[in-house]
Amino acid sequence: MEHTPPRKVEHQQTDRGYVPVYATGVVEQPWDSYSATDHEVWNTLYARQCKLLPGRACQEFLDGLARFGMGEKGIPKFSELNEVLTAATGWQIVAVEGLLPDEVFFDHLANRRFPVSWWIRKPDQLDYLSEPDLFHDLFGHVPLLLNPVFADYMQAYGRGGMKAFGIGPEALMNLTRLYWYTVEFGLIDTPDGLRIYGAGIVSSKGESIYCLDSEAPNRIGFDLERVMNTRYRIDSYQQTYFVIDSFEQLFEATTPDFTPIYARLAARPPHAAGDVLDTSDRVFNYGTREGWATNADT
Ligand code: PHE
Ligand code: CO
Repeated sequence: MEHTPPRKVEHQQTDRGYVPVYATGVVEQPWDSYSATDHEVWNTLYARQCKLLPGRACQEFLDGLARFGMGEKGIPKFSELNEVLTAATGWQIVAVEGLLPDEVFFDHLANRRFPVSWWIRKPDQLDYLSEPDLFHDLFGHVPLLLNPVFADYMQAYGRGGMKAFGIGPEALMNLTRLYWYTVEFGLIDTPDGLRIYGAGIVSSKGESIYCLDSEAPNRIGFDLERVMNTRYRIDSYQQTYFVIDSFEQLFEATTPDFTPIYARLAARPPHAAGDVLDTSDRVFNYGTREGWATNADT
């Protein structure tokens, strides 16, 4: 990689422990400071998802997971995963405190670095927490970075993010929706049926079942501008999942310059999270809307 290693600035006591802080916001994974409980939380979540995901997650995700050899052996060491990852696709994991400012996040992706929160949730948060932790970031996102097409998509997204950041907040919102409905909550159509590839789903027991088995949500064929113009929920399972045919389709659909798309979308009101467009959507499942809240889309 061409970037210089992060420069250590100081040590800082945080509410999650004592960690080195670097100028770039990248830290060293404080592996020795994980407690027995932290490792237990990893093992429990890992075992639970591994039991659930065969037949639900796409093969590319399951293959990636197997290739890393993560397991019920406690929290993995990023340095060991990076040996596999960098050799395969040139990506690397970097440890961070948590959610990053948009432009910092985009810069990481554009340089094939995936930021992973170094801390893991507490035992009473196994089913849900409101911010991404190590389990979500690592288990959810990193296995697919071994897939060459998806790995390239993520880098292209980072570059696109820098550009959208320069265009303005509305463009950024459109691009964020694309991330949400693909990288976080995407489904993929396969000869064996619909499968999960989104990190927000594979890292959640409840949503791994709900997104495929429930009749309540819409499942709709991926269409770039449709997705970029659709609001989403951060407080509940998704009302709509978008289904890609392949990672190649996703990569190719997102290759053109988005500048004219941002301009077009600026003139159109966004769709609500649960809308179905009767004349244009390719509908896999028309949601029954059972249990939906109707306000507070993002
Ligand atoms: N082609 C997009 C642009 O011009 C960049 C991009 C690629 C965005 C892949 C998202 C995903 O802005
Ligand atoms: Co995520």
